Amino acid sequence: MYYGGDYNPEQWPEEVWKEDVRLMREAGVTVVSLGIFAWARIQEDEGAFDWEWLDRVVDLLHENGIQVNMGTATASPPPWATTKYPEMLPKDANGAIYGPGSRQHFAPTSPVYRRLAVELVRELAARYAHHPAVVMWHVNNEYGCHVNYDYSDNARDAFRVWLQTKYGTIDALNEAWGTAFWSQIYTSFDQVFPPRKAPYSLNPGGALDFKRFTSDAALELYVMERDIIRAAGATQPISTNFMGPFHPLDYWRWADEIDIITNDNYPDPNDPESFRSSAFALDLMRSLKPGVPWLLMEQSTGALSWRPSNAPKAPGQMEALSAQAIGHGADGVLFFQWRQSRRGSEKFHSAMLPQAGTQTRTWREVTRLGETLKEFPQLAPESHAKVGVVFDWENWWALAHTDQPVALDYGRLVQRWYAALHAQHVSIDLVKPTGDLSSYSLVVAPQLYLLNDAGSENLSSYVRQGGHLLVSAFTDVVDQNDAFREGGYQVGLRQVLGVTVEDFGALVAPSSDTGLRSVGDSTKGGSGIGPGQSHASVTGPFGTLRGEYFCEELRVLSADVIGTFTDGRLKGAPALTQQAYGAGRGTYLATIPDDAGMLSVTSWALAEAGVQPELSGLSPWVEVARRGDVLTLINHGTETATVRVTGENVLSGNPVNGIELEMFEWVMVRLSNKTVSGAVR
Ligand code: GLA
Repeated sequence: MYYGGDYNPEQWPEEVWKEDVRLMREAGVTVVSLGIFAWARIQEDEGAFDWEWLDRVVDLLHENGIQVNMGTATASPPPWATTKYPEMLPKDANGAIYGPGSRQHFAPTSPVYRRLAVELVRELAARYAHHPAVVMWHVNNEYGCHVNYDYSDNARDAFRVWLQTKYGTIDALNEAWGTAFWSQIYTSFDQVFPPRKAPYSLNPGGALDFKRFTSDAALELYVMERDIIRAAGATQPISTNFMGPFHPLDYWRWADEIDIITNDNYPDPNDPESFRSSAFALDLMRSLKPGVPWLLMEQSTGALSWRPSNAPKAPGQMEALSAQAIGHGADGVLFFQWRQSRRGSEKFHSAMLPQAGTQTRTWREVTRLGETLKEFPQLAPESHAKVGVVFDWENWWALAHTDQPVALDYGRLVQRWYAALHAQHVSIDLVKPTGDLSSYSLVVAPQLYLLNDAGSENLSSYVRQGGHLLVSAFTDVVDQNDAFREGGYQVGLRQVLGVTVEDFGALVAPSSDTGLRSVGDSTKGGSGIGPGQSHASVTGPFGTLRGEYFCEELRVLSADVIGTFTDGRLKGAPALTQQAYGAGRGTYLATIPDDAGMLSVTSWALAEAGVQPELSGLSPWVEVARRGDVLTLINHGTETATVRVTGENVLSGNPVNGIELEMFEWVMVRLSNKTVSGAVR
C-alpha cells in the first residue's frame, strides 16, 4: 500500500525539508508526489534550468526510504513563459483570455507551450529516469480541470486539422453535421471554428466533435510527455491524475494510454450521502482498467478550500473514506498535500501535516492510518461484479447540448441509477457501450441517447448470449453524429427490446421552477393532464413508481407489456415492456423513475437476473465493497450497525462472526466459504 501525498518543498526553506522527512517517517509515508507545480522554481528562464535543489530533495527522500512519484511540472507555466509567449494562453467561448497568475493557463494545442513542455520534460526525464527513488511518474496535473474548453486561435487551428483527419473532405463533414440546416454549409475546413459564442444554438454535431477534439488534444499532450519519459529509459509506471466522472475528458479512451489509473477524490463532508458518489467514482476508476489496481492520488485529511462551505471530515471519516478507496480497488492512499501551505490560494486546505502542527486530531489520524497501512495484506483487484452500469462520455457530451425534449443531467442520472443499486449492496462495474459485458448478469443502460452501431451491436449480443438488459427512457435515439437514423428511434436495439418510441412525451423536469408542478401532482387531486404534467405513475411488477422527465409513447412490436402508465396523458398506455431475445431478456422502461422508483425497479431487475447482494440485511448506510474474497464494510451512518458476516478480519487475523460497526468504523473480512456460497456468482 502506497501512503503519502503531494510534496511541495519549493514553498519552504531548505531547513524545513529535514523536518518534513522526519515527520513523514513518523507518519508512515512511503511515497510523495514531487514537483507538480515547481516549473517556475526549476526553470528561471528559457534554457536556464536549476535542478540542484530538486536533486537534494530527491536524495534526501531516498536516504530516508521515501519513494518519489515524479511530477513533470507542466501544469502551471512560469510568468517568464507567458510574458514572452502570450499566445500560449487559452481563451473562453467569448474570446476572453485566461490570464496568468493562477494555474493551468495554457492552451493545450499551443505549439509554443508544447515546445517548452517538451524541453522541460526531456531534461527532467533524462535526470531522474534511473534514480532509484523514483517509482512512478505524474504527468501534468488534472488535465482540463479549470480550463474545460479552450476556444483560442491555437484551438481553432488544431480543431481544423483534427476535423480534416477525421472527415477527409469537407463534404463528409457537411453530411455528418447536417449543415444544410440553417445555411451552415462549409466549402473549406478553414471556415470552421470552435463553438464560440453565437447568437443561438450551435450545430450539435459540431459541438460534439469539439468535445471529442478537446479530450483528444489533452490526451495528445499526455502521450507527448509520456513518450519523452519512456524515451529517456524510464521503466516506472506513468500516469496522470483523473477526477472521477469528469465531463470534458473521455477517460475510457485515456485509460488505454495510462499504466496505472490514479484519481483525486473529494466527497463533500456536508453531504451525508456523498459516499455514494464517491463509490461511483472509485468503481469507475477500477472499471477503467480491469484487473489493475489503481491509486487514490489525492484526497483531503479534512477541510478543502474551494467549496462555499468547507466542512472538516468528522473524526474517523478520513480513515473510512481511505478504506472505501482500498475496498474499491486502490492499492494506495495519498493526499493533497503533505504540509499545509502557509501562503497562496490553498492555505486553508487541510494537509497531512496541518498548519496547527502535530498536536492535532488530523496528525493523530494521519499517523494512525500510516500505521494501519504498513504491512497491509495484498488484495485481489477483482470486484466480481455481476452488475454493469453503462456510462459513456460521448453520450454525456451529446446530452449536454441544448434543444432536447427536456434538459437532462446525464452524469447525475447515471449516478442516481448507480446509487439505487449501490444501496442494495451489490458490486457494480461501470462499462462502456462497447465493453466486455460477458461477466454480468444484469446490465443497466440509463439514458443512452447516443448509441453508435458498435455499442448497439455489443449490447444486443450481450442479450443474445443470455444477459439481462434494462434500458430506460431516451435511449438509442441518435447515431454517433447526434443525428436520427433512418427508420425512427431505437433502430439499434429494436430487435432486442421489441419496442420503439413514437413520441418522447417530455414532462416538466423535476427541477424546473415553473410553479406548475402541483397541477400535475395527482396526489393533490389534479388529473395530471395538462401543460404542467411533471410525472407519470407506473404500475408494474415492482409495484408503483413515479416517473419523471418523460412518459414516452411506445409502439410495442413484439415485447410483452408488463407495466402501464396509470395517470396523466398516457393513462393506460404501456410503460414497461420485456421480451426474450436469444438466451437473454430486454426490458424497456418508458420513463425515468424518481429515487424511490429507481430502488424499486432495480431491486426487481436484480431479482429477475438472479443477482444477490454481497450481504443481506445490511443498513443502507453500511457500504460493502468486494475485492476477491474480501469484503470491506464501512458504516457511513450515525447509528451503530449490526453486520452478519462470517470470516476472518484481514488486518487482525481474528475470526469474525457478526460485527457491530459504529459511525465511520470499517472492517475488511475475508469471507469463509460458507458466506461466499450464499451469493450467486
Ligand atoms: C486538486 C489539485 C491539487 C489541489 C487540490 C485541492 O486535486 O490537483 O493541486 O489544488 O485539488 O483540493
